[in-house]
Parts: sequence; C-alpha cells; structure tokens
Amino acid sequence: MKKMDKTGTPASNSSDEIAKRVDALLNQMSLAEKVGQLAQVGGADWNQGPKPEEIIRERGVGSVLWLNDTKRFNALQKIAMEESPSKIPVLFALDVIHGYKTVFPVPLAMASSWDPSVAEQAQTIAAKESRAAGLHWTFGPMLDIARDARWGRIVEGAGEDPYLGSAMAAAQVRGFQGADLSDPERVLACAKHFAGYGAADGGRDYDPVYLPETQLRNVYFPPFQAAIKAGVSTFMSAYMDLNNVPANGNRWLLHDILREEWGFDGFVISDAFGVLNLVTQGHAKDKSDAAFRSLNAGLNMDMASNSYLDSLEALVNNNSISIEQIDEMVKPILTIKMKMGLFENPYVDETLLEKVIALPEHKQAARRAAQRSMVLLRNEGSLLPLSKELKNVAVIGPLADSMESTEGSWMVFGHKPDAVTVLQGIRNKLSDAKITYAPGPDIRRDIPHPFGEFDATAKKPRQTPEDADAAFQAAVETAQNADLIIAVMGESQDMAGEFASRASLDLPGRQEELLKAVSALGKPIVLVLLNGRPLSINWAAEHVPAILEAWEPGSEGGNAVADILFGDVNPGGKLPVCFPRNGNHAPLYYSRVLTHLPEDRPNYLSRYWDGPTTPLYPFGFGLSYTTFSITNLKLSSGQVKVGQSVTVNVDVTNTGKVAGDEVVQLYIHQKWGSDSRPMRELKGFERITLQPNETKKVTFQLGPDELGYWSTNADKWIQDAAPFDIWVGADSLATLHADLEVFG
Ligand code: BGC
Repeated sequence: MKKMDKTGTPASNSSDEIAKRVDALLNQMSLAEKVGQLAQVGGADWNQGPKPEEIIRERGVGSVLWLNDTKRFNALQKIAMEESPSKIPVLFALDVIHGYKTVFPVPLAMASSWDPSVAEQAQTIAAKESRAAGLHWTFGPMLDIARDARWGRIVEGAGEDPYLGSAMAAAQVRGFQGADLSDPERVLACAKHFAGYGAADGGRDYDPVYLPETQLRNVYFPPFQAAIKAGVSTFMSAYMDLNNVPANGNRWLLHDILREEWGFDGFVISDAFGVLNLVTQGHAKDKSDAAFRSLNAGLNMDMASNSYLDSLEALVNNNSISIEQIDEMVKPILTIKMKMGLFENPYVDETLLEKVIALPEHKQAARRAAQRSMVLLRNEGSLLPLSKELKNVAVIGPLADSMESTEGSWMVFGHKPDAVTVLQGIRNKLSDAKITYAPGPDIRRDIPHPFGEFDATAKKPRQTPEDADAAFQAAVETAQNADLIIAVMGESQDMAGEFASRASLDLPGRQEELLKAVSALGKPIVLVLLNGRPLSINWAAEHVPAILEAWEPGSEGGNAVADILFGDVNPGGKLPVCFPRNGNHAPLYYSRVLTHLPEDRPNYLSRYWDGPTTPLYPFGFGLSYTTFSITNLKLSSGQVKVGQSVTVNVDVTNTGKVAGDEVVQLYIHQKWGSDSRPMRELKGFERITLQPNETKKVTFQLGPDELGYWSTNADKWIQDAAPFDIWVGADSLATLHADLEVFG
C-alpha cells in the first residue's frame, strides 16, 4: 500500500516523481489546454470575457481570482475535475494581505513590531482561514521597499529598510506557506511586485521607476531574495516601467535575475491586466505583441487580461513562440498544483470556514500583533499610561469609531467591517466611566477613490461646510466637558493603499485645527494616530504631550490601543520608516551616502533654507513606559579578515520601574572603499523583554553577508578591506560606537 501523508497525497510525491507526472500530463495536453494553464481569469461580475465556467469546461485554466465564494470554488473545481479535458485542478487566488476574517495590523504596522514571529503567526492564521474558505493562493507578501511616504502603497510593505524588509519577507512566506506545500492549512505566497515599484517618481503610483543596479541589488532586491530563500512559490511582476522596460515584460528581471541568477523554480504572474498594459504603456504594438513580449520575458501567467488566452495559440502556430517555450512556462504551474496535493484533494469542506474563524486564538493573536505593532512617539511628563480610575473621558476625531479605518486597507472581497474601534476599546476598558464621543468634521479624499463605490464611508454624501462647523463645535464641547481628551486622527482607510498616493503628508481635513482647539482647553490630551503612512504631525509633535502611532491595527485594534493607553501593555514598537517633516521632503530615508558637506558641519545643518531636513521621527524610533540603557559594546575582535565574521555584544538594562521591550539595533558604516557606502545601514536587530533592573546580553554576528555589497565600480558583489563604524542603540541615531577594521 502507498504511504499517505495527512492530506491523502501519496507520500512518494518526490520531486522526481512529480517531474515525471508533469511530463506525462504535458504530453497528453493540447496547446489550448496548455495556454489555459497560463491564464488566470477574473471571477468577479465586472470581469469581461467568457465566464470561468466556460473556459474551464473547454480547456481548463491555471487560476481564478477576485472570487471569494466557497460554494462556487467547489462548483468550478468540479467542472475542472470532471468536465475539462485533462482534469487539472484550478488554483483559487485572492489578495489576503493582512488577514481573511481575523484582520491583523497592516504590513507596515507589523514591521513596526520588529518581531518577525508576529508577522509569521499572523500570516499562518490568515492562511488557515483563507484555505478553509477554499483559497489556495494569496498575493502577498508585498516586498517593495518604500522610501517615499507619499506613495500610497507604503502601507502594504515593511517600510524603507532592506534588512528589516528581508526579515519580514521571510517570516510572511513561512507563515503563508509553512514548511510543505501539501499542508492543507496553508496557501501559496506570492512575492510582489517585482521590482522597484516603491520608487515611483514623485511617489505617484504607477509612475516610472529609474533605479541603477546598485540600488536594485543593495536595497530593492534583498527582500525578494529572502522570500526565495524562505521557499516562496510564486512571484508577481510590477506594473511600472523599470528603467524604461515595463516589469511585466522585463526579461532582465524575470529571466536573467530571477531564474538564471537566483535559481527561482516557481512561477511568475503578471500584475492585474499587466500583460495588456504593455500596449497602454507604449511598449507593445497590440495584444498579441504584448503576450509575445511577456512570455518571452519569462512571465508564466497572465493575470486577468486574457492576452495569453487570446494570442498564444496563434503565436505558436505561426512559429513566433515554440511549443517548448510554452511547456517550460506551464511546468512550474503543474508542479506546484501537484506539490499541493490538489489533484488528489481538489475540494474544500464547505463547513470548515465557520469553525476556523471562530477560533478564539485568532482574536488573541490579532490583539497581540496590534499591541506589538504600536509605536509610542511622545510621552511628555509620563502622561501615559493613563489611570483606569478616570471617570470622564472625551474621545474625539473622525476615526475614533471607524471600523473601516481600524481594519485598514486591503480587505478580502465581500468582507464586512468588523473591528473593535478605539472608542469601543476604551469603553471596554473603562466600563464604569463616562465616555463621550464626537467625531468632528469628516475627512474625505479630494479626488474620490476609483473603487469608492465599494466603500461605505466614501458613499456617504459629503458634509456641507455648515455641518462640518457644527461637528467641529460639538467635538470642542464634548472635549470641554471631560477630564481627559483622546483624539483619534489620521487617515481614513481609502487614503493609503493602491490609488492612494498624495502630495502632502499633513493630517487631512480640519483635524489639526480641531486638535489645536481642544488642546487650547488646557486638559490632558492624547493623540492616537490611525494611518497607513508616516504623517508630518509637526504641530502635534511639539504641543500634544502623548502620541501613540497605532497604524491601521486590525480587528482587535481598539482593544490593543486601550491596553496600551491604560498600561496593561507597555509599547515596544519602533518605526520601520522615518517621518518626514513635510511631504516635499520625500523621498527621505536614513541610509543615505555622505555628501561633501555633511549635515553635522556647523552652518550646513540643513539642505533647505526653510527648515530642517532631518526627519521628525527617525527610522527605528519608539518610546516605552520604561527606560533602557545600552552599554558595553564589545567586538570579539577589532580586526577581522575579509570573509570572516565578528561577534558584537552589548548589555541592555531596564533602568525604569516597569517591564518593557527594547528593540536593540545594530548599524554599520563602511568608511571608504570601492564605492561610497551609506552613512548607516541596519545589519542586526532583536526585540527583547526586560523586567525592571534586569540586564540581558544581546549578540549580533557581522560576516561577509552584512559587510559586503554590490559595487558599481567592480560591477559585482564584493567585500572591501576597509574600516567600519559600528553603532548599537535604540534607533538609527544610536551613538554607542566601536571601530572595526576589515583587512585583506
Ligand atoms: C495590485 C496587486 C494585486 C492585484 C490583484 C493589482 O491592482 O497591484 O497588488 O495583487 O491587483 O488584486
């Protein structure tokens, strides 16, 4: 008898055996069927062209997206397994970015935890819930480094830094996929958007990207390489032109780098309609030319544009594309379907989802993830934590009771908002106190979101100026009558994400005006920020004594905010992006190269004459209710040979009165060498918990991976013999320093 694993998949599904099965299957498939496997078709009502049912019945299809309907998944799969010519199961795919039913903090927030295990656990649960719904594949993690806070999609990634981004990338891949593709509680991950999308000109979504190889290899590629190392099965190419070649048809990216250099053996899908977009982008002549270019570039699957379905057969028949090329493109798709055990277990148990989403540990994990993601930006006079004895609290601001903005952008299709808002979280925490609430004036995008019709808040009619004035007054009066004010402000759900770039980073609408008006009342005031990008909160940073960056914290966000405000949890998150003082300062990031007039020289403190260019809050920054000291920076040796490693140790002590977390960060700077190197680069971090007076030793390793880089001058990866500065501390301005000499 054949040994079976827990999915019922024959355990002899070794790579060799799967390769043989794939070859045998390919041999029996018609060209039309092969092309079917290279297509992902839209299952939404608004998708044009033949319905998935028809295509599947006629020739089978690689995948269906934009559908979130367990019964229909099974119905479509039944057609594939019983009526399609070669009975190849369909992959059902959807964007499950930070949770399916249980919503976790947005990815930028998860990166603020500086705790990859938080991201891994979140995506493990997201995988379990979405797989129970019948999905097999998510379009995440989003691995685009983003150094321009105007770019709306900064919310979907891990921020500005390749080292932190790589750790979060690997953790999310492990969470989604687990150790084995045949695990029935996991989904395929997709590393997107390959590559450089976050560097769009001016932070304007989809605008062209010009990145030299040194930036791509040292900054933008590392999270993708980390995803491959963690076993990611699929990649998605990006929309924009990279150095004047659209990523969806860029052979250098998709073939030379991804396949030849990195040895990626999964498959690549375009971004939505991306193949046909080669025509719109002025790169391909027509649909057939677009299909030709993308296929030749190494793009396996066409998302939603039907360009492959409509063109590839003719291109093979007129010898523009060979059947061998088609087979090469189909192989990894069939291989992955086999590795998942889908041929043996194509259906989902329609009763499973209800049981899985009710699991209490999912809510607990969401609350913990939100707690660990929040960043305390200011706490003058130790206003926080607040007393639970408070009897009369005013909660104001347009986001205080918004489920949508608490959950954040990118909910799965058909999701109904279901979050504990900050107002509710405070009510849960202070059940005996009087909690009054007034939202103040609405905040709205000036130019509506193109998907506005799907969003309840965007559907509401806009407030008249008179209504806004009345709401403003009501908020001030509510604040006036309370002992303490909690203002919940930031950006609504539709203000960050795709189609959500903006020129300014100010608090939208009349929020700052309201903040000033209630601050003038002279009562203690706390600002809780809900937002998906850094904001230029210059006035608040000087005048509001306590500021908590809660990001878009997910289903349990309001409870987590209350846990922190009232001291049940000590905040320990750190910023994965710097906060510019002004949208016009973007792109702004800590890891820049030195100039001929560094800003630490007297008289050259800023690059602008109308204000400082330093960030309002630096990368890696975040406060705690306790204090820490980091001392005793010691290297195993002050000198190390090229290719060898050195150990870096520090002692970290909790010098305050309560237990708390510190994220210990290691930065390096190569002083000179073949190329100029950034003045600081993160090369190690660890989040630790310390009781009062407790000291822990934290150890980092620096070896060739950390000390080497891609050199423009050498045109390859190198490690220079050169002196290095080493800093360890609590953020990117760390001052505790040691010297390291790397010799040849
Ligand atoms: C986005 C992708 C997403 C895809 C499918 C596109 O508009 O750029 O990130 O995965 O749609 O929904």
